[in-house]
Amino acid sequence: MNEVGIIILAAGQGKRMKSSLPKVMHPLCGKPLFFHVLTTARRLKPGKVAIIIGHGAEAVKQAYPNGDVTWVVQEQQLGTGHAVLCAKNSFGEFAGDILILSGDVPLISEPTLNAIIDLHWKQKSSLTFLTASQKGPSGYGRVLRHSDGEIAAIVEERDATDAQRQIEEVNAGVYVVSAALLFSALEKVKNHNNQGEYYLPDIVAIALKQGERVATMKVDDACEMMGINTREELAQMEKTLQERINRKWMDDGVTLKDPSTTYIDDDVVIGNDTVIGPNTHLRGNTVIGKRCQIDGTAYLTDTQIGDEVHVKFSVVMTSSRVAAGAIVGPFAHLRPGSSLGANVHIGNFVETKEATLGENTKANHLAYLGDVTIGRDTNIGAGTIVCNYDGFHKYRTKIGDRVQVGSDSTLVAPISLGDDVYVATATTLRHDIPAGSLAFNERQERVRAGWTEQKREKMKGTQK
Ligand code: UD1
Ligand code: CA
Repeated sequence: MNEVGIIILAAGQGKRMKSSLPKVMHPLCGKPLFFHVLTTARRLKPGKVAIIIGHGAEAVKQAYPNGDVTWVVQEQQLGTGHAVLCAKNSFGEFAGDILILSGDVPLISEPTLNAIIDLHWKQKSSLTFLTASQKGPSGYGRVLRHSDGEIAAIVEERDATDAQRQIEEVNAGVYVVSAALLFSALEKVKNHNNQGEYYLPDIVAIALKQGERVATMKVDDACEMMGINTREELAQMEKTLQERINRKWMDDGVTLKDPSTTYIDDDVVIGNDTVIGPNTHLRGNTVIGKRCQIDGTAYLTDTQIGDEVHVKFSVVMTSSRVAAGAIVGPFAHLRPGSSLGANVHIGNFVETKEATLGENTKANHLAYLGDVTIGRDTNIGAGTIVCNYDGFHKYRTKIGDRVQVGSDSTLVAPISLGDDVYVATATTLRHDIPAGSLAFNERQERVRAGWTEQKREKMKGTQK
């Protein structure tokens, strides 16, 4: 739609959020608020997208480093009308229509936007805006109509009379306006109102006065136009969007044992026949394969999981990869840079970080595996610690294929164990071990018969 340019309003502070973070940066299902609007806007393939930023401008810009939008800075937030006027220069000679969206109205959908643009074109209007019917609306501008139903103006709630506040048709904050009308009308907007701001909706009355054709379209699903102005609205929106996302995955063949405690971010992908238990959080760009089982109480962030992986109770994984058929948990922690090969087993109380484990390798109990590369078919015994840090630097450990590391061993990095090495239990290793060797520490085992009884006799009566 090359004839359409898009302006997204995102400069406001969001006073009602009481936050140091700009409102449009507050996350909703894993993405900043304005990303949701921007993603939908970009699907329309517009000729140009301009985002008005101001409060926390740098943070907003950094959140979206792609070069395909024009950033317009509104130095002082003097109102939505002033904000749009700031984009005038960046639209230069643009002669088409401009679609205006709010960064704080995240659920507005592509079909609704296509429909309003179509309607605008079909009716050859100069201005078309989206409205919604709400029982007992609060916070929204009200649509004023003449007795014959023709539009008269939009009045903000704060400026409305008691009678006007009873009106249930509200301004959804989405407008399609010809560029020429938009910028000329905005020049005429005054700030003589309760907030002393330049209101964008005032262009409706101005356009009508000029004899321009103004139309409205009613949105079917009122959820779409819900704006976020408070933390409570953010929480409600999170719930609404989460329910949508969960429904989508169930429709696509994923079982959610308890959808009300399953938290899936917007960009997550899940294969069919995967079963997800309660209190599971799938965040960021996490991808889950087919026929996986996630038992519950799992926090998986930016993690890729292959098919038929079993994630047992209480597992945290961040920026990690798990190949098909692996089993992880219960109570396991995969920190960033962990990469598990096919059929790897990671058991209870095992922590990995920057760790690559080859196919079929197992670390089933109580281990720390940091900065390590381990081959295939290797077994890491209970209580194995890779000592990667000497208080100054981190060092790597390399362990070959088919290695047996006995329980309670410590491997002091940097160190390399060749293929087929056997490490005896309770061994501390500080040097490289050649392939095929047995490594152990000399230790004499001693036994003192009757020692316990003697000790107890000696200590009698001294215990507090
Ligand atoms: C606005 C409309 C209201 C409509 C509602 C729909 C105005 C005056 N009112 O009210 O009629 O029912 O949206 O959601 O437009 N912003 C800037 N610069 C500014 C002020 C605001 O960029 O100087 C941005 C905000 O970041 C926000 C958007 O504009 O993304 C809307 O501003 P907000 O203050 O939330 O307007 P509402 O009170 O919701
Ligand atoms: Ca708003």
